Amino acid sequence: MEALTPLIDGGIFAYLNYLVPAKRKEILDILVNGLKRMEYRGYDSAGVGFEGTNTKNGSHELKTIKQKGKVARLQEEIDQTTDLDFEKEYETHIGIAHTRWATHGEPSPTNSHPQRSDTTNEFLVVHNGIITNYKDLKSFLMSKGMEFESETDTEVIVKLVKHISDKHKNSTMSFRELVELTVQQLEGAFSLVFMSSKFPGECVCTRRGSPLVIGVKSKAKLSTDHIPILYSKDHRGFMNPSLHHTDSTTEFHPIGNKEVEYFFASDASAIIEHTNQVIFLEDDDVAAVQNGCLTIHRIKRTLDESTTREVTTIKMEIQQIMKGSYSSFMQKEIFEQPESVVNTMRGRVNFETNQVVLGGIKDFMTEIRRCRRLLFIACGTSYHSAVATRQLMEELTELPVVVELASDFLDRQTPVFRDDVCFFISQSGETADTLMALRYCKQRGALIVGITNTVGSSICRESHCGVHINAGPEIGVASTKAYTSQFISLVMFALVMCEDRISMQNRRKEIIQGLKNLPEQIKNVLKTDEHVHTLAQELYQQKSLLVMGRGYNYATCLEGALKIKELTYMHSEGILAGELKHGPLALVDRAMPVMMVVTRDKVYPKCMNALQQVKARHGNPIVLGNVDDTDTQQQANKYIGVPSTIDCLQGILTIIPMQLLSMHIAQLRGCDVDCPRNLAKSVTVE
Ligand code: F6R
Repeated sequence: MEALTPLIDGGIFAYLNYLVPAKRKEILDILVNGLKRMEYRGYDSAGVGFEGTNTKNGSHELKTIKQKGKVARLQEEIDQTTDLDFEKEYETHIGIAHTRWATHGEPSPTNSHPQRSDTTNEFLVVHNGIITNYKDLKSFLMSKGMEFESETDTEVIVKLVKHISDKHKNSTMSFRELVELTVQQLEGAFSLVFMSSKFPGECVCTRRGSPLVIGVKSKAKLSTDHIPILYSKDHRGFMNPSLHHTDSTTEFHPIGNKEVEYFFASDASAIIEHTNQVIFLEDDDVAAVQNGCLTIHRIKRTLDESTTREVTTIKMEIQQIMKGSYSSFMQKEIFEQPESVVNTMRGRVNFETNQVVLGGIKDFMTEIRRCRRLLFIACGTSYHSAVATRQLMEELTELPVVVELASDFLDRQTPVFRDDVCFFISQSGETADTLMALRYCKQRGALIVGITNTVGSSICRESHCGVHINAGPEIGVASTKAYTSQFISLVMFALVMCEDRISMQNRRKEIIQGLKNLPEQIKNVLKTDEHVHTLAQELYQQKSLLVMGRGYNYATCLEGALKIKELTYMHSEGILAGELKHGPLALVDRAMPVMMVVTRDKVYPKCMNALQQVKARHGNPIVLGNVDDTDTQQQANKYIGVPSTIDCLQGILTIIPMQLLSMHIAQLRGCDVDCPRNLAKSVTVE
C-alpha cells in the first residue's frame, strides 16, 4: 500500500500577475480574499508574503505579514502596516498566502506561514501537510550553521532550498530545479508554493498527498487545453530511462500576448471568482512560472501515467460559495436541499420511463453486477449515508453488502478480493482514511468506485469510475446537503443494479416516484424550522440528547447525534432502538432528553414498543414522525411531523429536522456553526 502521511488542513493561496499591472493594495486584497474563501477548511493563524523594495538600498526584497487568529485579524494587521506604499503599482508580481492549522508549534506569528529561509527573506514558502523527516533535516541544517526561529516542520523546507541554492551559487540553476532538489529530500505529505527574492516575479509549486490547483486567467484564448509534462533531469546526474524528454523549451502561454494571471490554491473555490480555467496538479508534479509561462515537470516517469495535465473548465458559480441572506453557510446548505437533490438526479433519473443512468459507472456495470460483494467505506457523515442505504442495497442487489468506517477497516487489514467492488464515499474526496482505504483495496485488485462531491479530488482521480453527487460546494464544516445527495446517489445505484429484475419492477417504480416527490417534500420539511427552533430553545441548556430509532431511520439517529455533538458540543448518542434493553435504557429517566424517530414502516410496531419502554421509565421523548400519523402524535408530548414517503427514502426527510435542530441549539449556545471547534472541513489527518 502506498504510504500516506497525515496532513493538516489550512489553505494555500497565491497570485502571480505577469504584465498585468496591479497596485499593492489590489494584490493584497486578492490574497486575503483567497484566504477568506478557504476559511471553512479550519485554521488558527494566517499570513501573506509579497514582493517589495528595500527602502535603504533600493534592492528587491520579500516582505511578510503574519498573524494569529482569523483572516480578519490579518487584514487589520495589513491595514495598520505603516511602512507600505499601498498605491505602488507592479506590472509583474508574485504574492503567497496561507491559513495554518497548528500541528508543530502553537499558533503564533512566528509559526505562521510564509516561513522564511533567513532574516533577509531570500526564499519564502507556504505549506500544507506534514514533513515527517523534518527532525533529521533540521539537525543536518543546524550542523551547517543554520538557525531556526519557528517550531514548525515547514521551516526546514525553506532553509533547505536556501542551503541548496547557496551550494550551487555559481551555477545557473533555475528556481524550479532548486525546488526539485529540495523536495526530493522531503518525506511526508505536502503542497508547497515558493517565491524568492533571487527570482522576482517567479513562482514554483508542487504537491505530494495534498491538493493543489492552478487557475489561469488571460484575455487571450489559451493555446492548449493540455499542458505537456516535461521530464526533468534527475539531479543525481543521470537521466531516467524511457524518458522522452529532458528540460524542454516547450512553453505554455496564452495565444497573442503574454499578459497572464495565475492563481494557486488548495481548493478551486478560492479561484473560481477569478477564472474557471484550472489545472489540478498530480502528486510529484513541479509547476513553475517563469516570464509568465507555466510549465509542469516531473522527475520520474512511471509506466501508464498521463503525459499531460488537462486545463479543466470548472462550473462552480461564485454565488454558490457566498452566504447570501443566510445567517451561516450551514443554514444556506440545509435550505438548498430541495435544489441540491434535484441536481444529484438531474440527467440521471427519467421519471417518465423509470430509467436510471449513471454515466460515470455505466461502462463498468457488467463487472459490478458480476461481483461477489459490495463494500461501502467512508468516515463520519459519509459513512452514515452508507448505513442509511444498506438495507435497500441488500434488497435490490441481493448481494452481501459490507459497510465500513475507513479507519477501522484499515486497522483490521480487512481481506479484500479481486471480485469485490469497493465504494468510497466522501464529500471532499480528500479524507485521508478513506483515501488510504481506497489505495489498500485498489492494490488488492478490487474495482474502485468513488462517490464524491469534489471534482478533481484525489478520490475522484484514483477511482476506476464513480458518481459525482453534484450537491454544489459545501462550505459549512458540518455536512448536510452532501449527506442527502450521497443518500440519493446510493439509491440510484441500487436502482441501476436491479433494472433487469422483473420481480423488482414495482418496487423500483415506487422508489423512483418517491424520488420525484422529494424536492417538494423537503420544502415542506423546511417549514418546520420555526417549530424546531422552539424545541431547540427548550433543549439548548441540556447536557445530553439521546436519539433513538431503528430500521431505515437508524442512520438518522447516528447522523442526527453526530450533528448535535459536533455543532453544540453537547453529548449526544444515536441509539438503535433494538438495543435499548441491552444497556442504553439505563440512561433514561425523567431528566434525560430523548428524541425518537418513529415513522410508518415495517418496524413501526417495534418503534412504538421502544417508545412505551422509554415512557415507562418517565422519559418524555420528542417524537419525529409522519405528519399525518395522528395516533403516534397522540402518544408524544412533543412532535415533529415530516411528510410520508416510501420507507427507504424516509431517512432523507427525517434527517432535515435534526440538521435544523443541531444548528439552532448551537446558535443558542453561542457556537460558530460553520466552523465548530477542533474540526476541519477536509480531514486530511489520519
Ligand atoms: C460531519 C462531517 C464529517 C465528514 C467526514 C468525512 O458533519 O462533515 O463527519 O463527513 O469527515 O468527510 P468526507 O465526506 O469529506 O470524506
